[in-house]
Amino acid sequence: MQRLDKTLSKELNISRSEAKQLIKKGSVKVNGALASSDSKCAEDDVISVNGKEIKQNKFVYIMLNKPQGAVSATEDKSEKTVIDLLPEEMRRKGLFPAGRLDKDTTGFLLLTDDGEFAHSILSPKKHIDKIYTARLDKPINEDIINDFESGMQLGDSLLQSAGLETIDGDNTFVKITLREGIYHQIKRMFKKHGITVVELRRIAMGGLFLDSSLKEGESRYITFEELGKIKPSK
Ligand code: URA
Repeated sequence: MQRLDKTLSKELNISRSEAKQLIKKGSVKVNGALASSDSKCAEDDVISVNGKEIKQNKFVYIMLNKPQGAVSATEDKSEKTVIDLLPEEMRRKGLFPAGRLDKDTTGFLLLTDDGEFAHSILSPKKHIDKIYTARLDKPINEDIINDFESGMQLGDSLLQSAGLETIDGDNTFVKITLREGIYHQIKRMFKKHGITVVELRRIAMGGLFLDSSLKEGESRYITFEELGKIKPSK
């Protein structure tokens, strides 16, 4: 059993005090009965707000705006991990980052305790787009765009087609769309063309974009509806 305000805050992405207000106003029911400020709920309870049923995620899904300097691991002897960045109340057993971002990469990192889901969004076969922006030390050209799009040979790997386009007409500020995630992939793809990635940021996974109100280092729960946006591109 969990406190109802905590569940509402998690599932609706609102603050605990906003959740308490909803309960106080009489907007919330648990299994058809009006909730009160000390109500608790279980995973299979039916919760409704203003008559609309709230779907509960069985597992936890967290969106973190990863800052530079944190490692995408659950523990590390000397470095700060992405788990260390979570507020105490969000930490729970079994949480891990679904996919890694390099230590110096910023942006959308998804943390979950749902192994099956993590596997499905990372599998290249599932075609979930991972969208990044990058600042480069040199401009891109058509040949590089074609190499990204046609499926690049990188060392021993033949990569899937990747998107590459400029942002605001600036040839050194680009958007990259990947469907897989091999080690240092974007940096190595540009390195092949003699370009260094100066800054890298992940902005979306599938159709779910990083919440622009999250400052670097901040995190929040992903709601049931939002989770549905992380879908294959075809
Ligand atoms: N590609 C990289 O090179 N680094 C990342 O962190 C993610 C994709």
